Amino acid sequence: MDDGIRIGIVTVSDRASAGIYEDEGGPAIAAYFEKALISPWTPVVRVIPDDRALIARTLVELADQEGCCLIVTTGGTGPAPRDVTPEATEDVVEKPMPGFGELMRQVSLAKVPTAILSRQTAGIRGRSLIVNLPGRPRAIGECLDAVMPAIPYCIDLIEGPYLETDPAVIVAFRPGQKPKA
Ligand code: MTE
Repeated sequence: MDDGIRIGIVTVSDRASAGIYEDEGGPAIAAYFEKALISPWTPVVRVIPDDRALIARTLVELADQEGCCLIVTTGGTGPAPRDVTPEATEDVVEKPMPGFGELMRQVSLAKVPTAILSRQTAGIRGRSLIVNLPGRPRAIGECLDAVMPAIPYCIDLIEGPYLETDPAVIVAFRPGQKPKA
Protein backbone atom coordinates (compact mmCIF):
# COMPACT_ATOMS: atom_id res chain seq x y z
CA MET A 1 0.00 0.00 0.00
CA ASP A 2 1.61 3.27 -1.04
CA ASP A 3 -0.57 6.30 -0.61
CA GLY A 4 2.28 8.50 0.62
CA ILE A 5 3.18 9.35 4.16
CA ARG A 6 1.08 7.56 6.77
CA ILE A 7 1.22 8.61 10.41
CA GLY A 8 -0.28 6.47 13.15
CA ILE A 9 -2.04 8.31 15.97
CA VAL A 10 -2.89 6.07 18.92
CA THR A 11 -4.88 7.34 21.88
CA VAL A 12 -4.42 5.00 24.83
CA SER A 13 -7.17 5.61 27.36
CA ASP A 14 -9.70 3.34 29.06
CA ARG A 15 -12.19 6.18 29.34
CA ALA A 16 -11.82 7.72 25.88
CA SER A 17 -12.04 4.27 24.26
CA ALA A 18 -15.21 3.52 26.26
CA GLY A 19 -16.79 6.81 25.17
CA ILE A 20 -16.88 8.14 28.77
CA TYR A 21 -15.15 11.23 27.52
CA GLU A 22 -14.16 12.51 24.15
CA ASP A 23 -10.66 11.82 22.88
CA GLU A 24 -8.79 15.13 22.90
CA GLY A 25 -5.27 13.76 22.52
CA GLY A 26 -5.61 12.16 19.08
CA PRO A 27 -7.18 15.24 17.49
CA ALA A 28 -4.51 17.47 19.13
CA ILE A 29 -1.77 15.36 17.52
CA ALA A 30 -3.50 15.44 14.13
CA ALA A 31 -3.90 19.24 14.37
CA TYR A 32 -0.22 19.56 15.22
CA PHE A 33 0.93 17.61 12.15
CA GLU A 34 -1.61 19.45 9.99
CA LYS A 35 0.20 22.66 10.96
CA ALA A 36 3.79 21.39 11.01
CA LEU A 37 3.96 19.23 7.86
CA ILE A 38 4.03 20.49 4.29
CA SER A 39 4.26 16.98 2.84
CA PRO A 40 0.86 15.39 2.20
CA TRP A 41 0.14 12.78 4.85
CA THR A 42 -2.66 10.48 5.95
CA PRO A 43 -3.55 9.81 9.59
CA VAL A 44 -4.22 6.24 10.71
CA VAL A 45 -6.14 6.68 13.95
CA ARG A 46 -6.84 4.26 16.80
CA VAL A 47 -8.45 4.83 20.23
CA ILE A 48 -7.81 1.87 22.54
CA PRO A 49 -7.90 0.97 26.26
CA ASP A 50 -4.84 0.73 28.52
CA ASP A 51 -4.17 -2.94 27.75
CA ARG A 52 -0.53 -3.87 27.20
CA ALA A 53 -1.11 -6.67 24.67
CA LEU A 54 -3.66 -4.64 22.70
CA ILE A 55 -1.38 -1.58 22.61
CA ALA A 56 1.50 -3.78 21.38
CA ARG A 57 -0.72 -5.41 18.71
CA THR A 58 -1.94 -2.00 17.54
CA LEU A 59 1.61 -0.65 17.23
CA VAL A 60 2.65 -3.76 15.25
CA GLU A 61 -0.37 -3.40 12.95
CA LEU A 62 0.31 0.28 12.25
CA ALA A 63 4.01 -0.37 11.63
CA ASP A 64 3.91 -3.66 9.72
CA GLN A 65 0.53 -3.67 7.94
CA GLU A 66 -0.45 -0.01 7.69
CA GLY A 67 3.05 1.13 6.76
CA CYS A 68 3.17 4.14 9.12
CA CYS A 69 6.63 5.71 9.12
CA LEU A 70 5.78 7.50 12.36
CA ILE A 71 3.46 6.31 15.13
CA VAL A 72 2.66 8.65 17.99
CA THR A 73 0.85 7.49 21.11
CA THR A 74 -0.81 9.67 23.73
CA GLY A 75 -1.59 8.58 27.28
CA GLY A 76 -0.70 5.78 29.63
CA THR A 77 2.86 6.90 30.40
CA GLY A 78 2.38 7.70 34.08
CA PRO A 79 2.82 5.58 37.23
CA ALA A 80 -0.84 4.51 37.71
CA PRO A 81 -1.56 0.75 37.67
CA ARG A 82 -3.23 0.90 34.23
CA ASP A 83 -0.43 3.01 32.64
CA VAL A 84 1.47 0.56 30.40
CA THR A 85 2.11 2.38 27.12
CA PRO A 86 5.93 2.49 27.55
CA GLU A 87 6.02 -1.26 28.37
CA ALA A 88 3.94 -2.08 25.27
CA THR A 89 6.23 0.13 23.18
CA GLU A 90 9.31 -1.63 24.55
CA ASP A 91 7.64 -4.98 23.74
CA VAL A 92 7.56 -4.18 20.00
CA VAL A 93 10.54 -1.95 19.19
CA GLU A 94 13.79 -3.37 17.90
CA LYS A 95 15.85 -0.32 18.83
CA PRO A 96 14.96 1.82 21.84
CA MET A 97 15.52 5.55 21.25
CA PRO A 98 15.90 6.85 24.81
CA GLY A 99 16.82 10.39 23.73
CA PHE A 100 13.20 11.18 22.90
CA GLY A 101 11.92 10.54 26.42
CA GLU A 102 14.91 12.25 27.97
CA LEU A 103 14.38 15.42 25.94
CA MET A 104 10.61 15.51 26.41
CA ARG A 105 10.92 15.13 30.19
CA GLN A 106 13.57 17.82 30.24
CA VAL A 107 11.48 20.42 28.39
CA SER A 108 8.30 19.39 30.22
CA LEU A 109 10.03 19.85 33.58
CA ALA A 110 10.42 23.52 32.78
CA LYS A 111 6.60 23.67 32.67
CA VAL A 112 5.43 21.28 35.41
CA PRO A 113 7.28 19.46 38.21
CA THR A 114 5.10 16.39 37.58
CA ALA A 115 6.82 15.88 34.20
CA ILE A 116 9.10 13.39 35.95
CA LEU A 117 6.03 11.17 36.35
CA SER A 118 5.95 10.48 32.61
CA ARG A 119 7.86 7.34 31.60
CA GLN A 120 7.45 8.13 27.89
CA THR A 121 9.87 6.44 25.52
CA ALA A 122 10.43 5.83 21.79
CA GLY A 123 11.96 3.30 19.45
CA ILE A 124 12.32 1.89 15.97
CA ARG A 125 10.38 -1.05 14.58
CA GLY A 126 11.38 -1.81 10.99
CA ARG A 127 10.77 1.40 9.08
CA SER A 128 8.63 2.98 11.80
CA LEU A 129 9.52 5.40 14.54
CA ILE A 130 7.23 5.04 17.56
CA VAL A 131 7.05 7.95 20.04
CA ASN A 132 5.07 8.11 23.30
CA LEU A 133 3.53 11.41 24.38
CA PRO A 134 1.77 12.04 27.70
CA GLY A 135 -2.01 12.18 27.75
CA ARG A 136 -2.67 15.82 28.56
CA PRO A 137 -3.47 17.76 25.40
CA ARG A 138 -1.22 20.64 26.54
CA ALA A 139 1.69 18.24 26.96
CA ILE A 140 1.31 17.06 23.38
CA GLY A 141 2.33 20.37 21.77
CA GLU A 142 5.08 20.96 24.32
CA CYS A 143 6.63 17.55 23.72
CA LEU A 144 6.23 17.56 19.93
CA ASP A 145 7.83 21.03 19.70
CA ALA A 146 10.90 19.52 21.39
CA VAL A 147 11.33 16.33 19.36
CA MET A 148 9.88 17.26 15.98
CA PRO A 149 13.06 18.92 14.61
CA ALA A 150 14.85 15.53 14.73
CA ILE A 151 12.00 13.32 13.48
CA PRO A 152 12.32 13.86 9.68
CA TYR A 153 16.03 12.94 9.74
CA CYS A 154 15.34 9.92 11.93
CA ILE A 155 12.81 8.76 9.31
CA ASP A 156 15.40 9.37 6.54
CA LEU A 157 17.81 7.10 8.43
CA ILE A 158 15.30 4.24 8.68
CA GLU A 159 14.65 4.59 4.93
CA GLY A 160 11.18 6.04 5.29
CA PRO A 161 9.60 8.82 3.23
CA TYR A 162 10.98 12.38 3.09
CA LEU A 163 9.05 14.51 5.59
CA GLU A 164 9.01 18.20 4.84
CA THR A 165 8.00 20.63 7.58
CA ASP A 166 6.74 24.20 7.40
CA PRO A 167 9.81 26.13 8.63
CA ALA A 168 7.54 28.81 10.07
CA VAL A 169 6.31 26.14 12.52
CA ILE A 170 9.19 23.65 12.89
CA VAL A 171 12.63 23.71 11.30
CA ALA A 172 13.61 20.11 10.52
CA PHE A 173 17.31 19.58 11.19
CA ARG A 174 19.13 17.40 8.70
CA PRO A 175 22.91 17.29 9.28
CA GLY A 176 24.84 18.55 6.27
CA GLN A 177 21.81 20.32 4.87
CA LYS A 178 21.16 24.04 5.26
CA PRO A 179 17.87 24.55 7.08
CA LYS A 180 15.27 25.97 4.69
CA ALA A 181 14.44 29.54 5.68
N1 MTE B 1 4.43 16.89 30.28
C1 MTE B 1 4.08 18.12 29.91
N2 MTE B 1 4.78 18.73 28.94
N3 MTE B 1 3.00 18.76 30.46
C2 MTE B 1 2.25 18.15 31.44
O1 MTE B 1 1.27 18.74 31.93
N4 MTE B 1 1.93 16.13 32.84
C3 MTE B 1 2.67 15.08 33.59
C4 MTE B 1 3.60 14.25 32.72
N5 MTE B 1 4.17 15.01 31.62
C5 MTE B 1 2.62 16.83 31.87
C6 MTE B 1 3.76 16.23 31.25
C7 MTE B 1 1.82 14.21 34.41
S1 MTE B 1 0.88 14.97 35.61
C8 MTE B 1 1.81 12.83 34.28
S2 MTE B 1 0.98 11.82 35.41
C9 MTE B 1 2.58 12.18 33.20
O2 MTE B 1 2.95 13.09 32.19
C10 MTE B 1 1.92 10.96 32.57
O3 MTE B 1 0.77 11.26 31.84
P1 MTE B 1 -0.04 10.13 31.06
O4 MTE B 1 -0.23 8.96 32.00
O5 MTE B 1 -1.34 10.75 30.67
O6 MTE B 1 0.76 9.70 29.88
